[in-house]
Amino acid sequence: MNELKSQDYPYVNQVNDDLKIGIVKDIFASVTDKYDFLNRFLSGRRDVAWRKRTVSEMNFFNTHRFLDVATGTGDLALDCANTYPDVNVAGVDFVQEMLDKGIEKVQSQNLDERVSLNWGDATKLQYADNSFDVTAMAFGIRNIPDKEKALSEMKRVIIKNGQVMVLELTTPEPGFWWRTYSFYLNGVLPKLAKLFTKNSAAYVYLADSIMNFPTRKKFVALMESVGLKNCRVIPLTFGVCTLYIGTK
Ligand SMILES: C[S@@+](CC[C@H](N)C(=O)[O-])C[C@H]1O[C@@H](n2cnc3c(N)ncnc32)[C@H](O)[C@@H]1O
Repeated sequence: MNELKSQDYPYVNQVNDDLKIGIVKDIFASVTDKYDFLNRFLSGRRDVAWRKRTVSEMNFFNTHRFLDVATGTGDLALDCANTYPDVNVAGVDFVQEMLDKGIEKVQSQNLDERVSLNWGDATKLQYADNSFDVTAMAFGIRNIPDKEKALSEMKRVIIKNGQVMVLELTTPEPGFWWRTYSFYLNGVLPKLAKLFTKNSAAYVYLADSIMNFPTRKKFVALMESVGLKNCRVIPLTFGVCTLYIGTK
């Protein structure tokens, strides 16, 4: 990834999948220190509410185990463990720097007995079939070129009637809110990010990856194509974020 250390990333739709994965790893390894702060600041703490809403939709009925895919610094894993005291939580991510922050947070909340965060790739999960009641991914799927593989892996590791949840930043329907959000994403957000991180190009890439995310209809079709049933779409905050839920 040395050629990308200029902190100047190409546009999402101009690079092949391997390069995209390299860019994603480079970005998250370089923004780790400021990641939680920037999430709260740039979303006006909405990210916290969106994760809480996701956790409130979870249904534990058999294994009492939850898998947080692309866990990053572990926020969703921790929210789940704090909300459901009888649930054991696993989290995986392929950027060790993000996981290390998450592990610090798990230890500081004395949750190491119930929450374990490990290196893992969303497209090749290291867990056996039917291991969890629920698996979820918050703000990760946008960064994964092979979304179908990631969704089928999430489905594989949950039990029958278990839930696959995807929380992702999306664009509102075309109109006033779309124009306002697009201005914020492309004009304001990278400038704000520049005040706090050396890698402000990461936030240009972020805006680009949101604008290029499939429409809700296409994403639901993708969930159905891997065999998920009863797929539901829950738009959050004028549609700038969407929670997708499907069952096995
Ligand atoms: C925007 S962060 C989200 C982190 C966390 N889920 C949250 O709610 O804040 C995206 C994370 O996805 C991870 N990621 C992207 N592609 C991945 C993959 N194929 N396997 C595992 N982790 C991946 C990145 O390393 C990064 O930590």
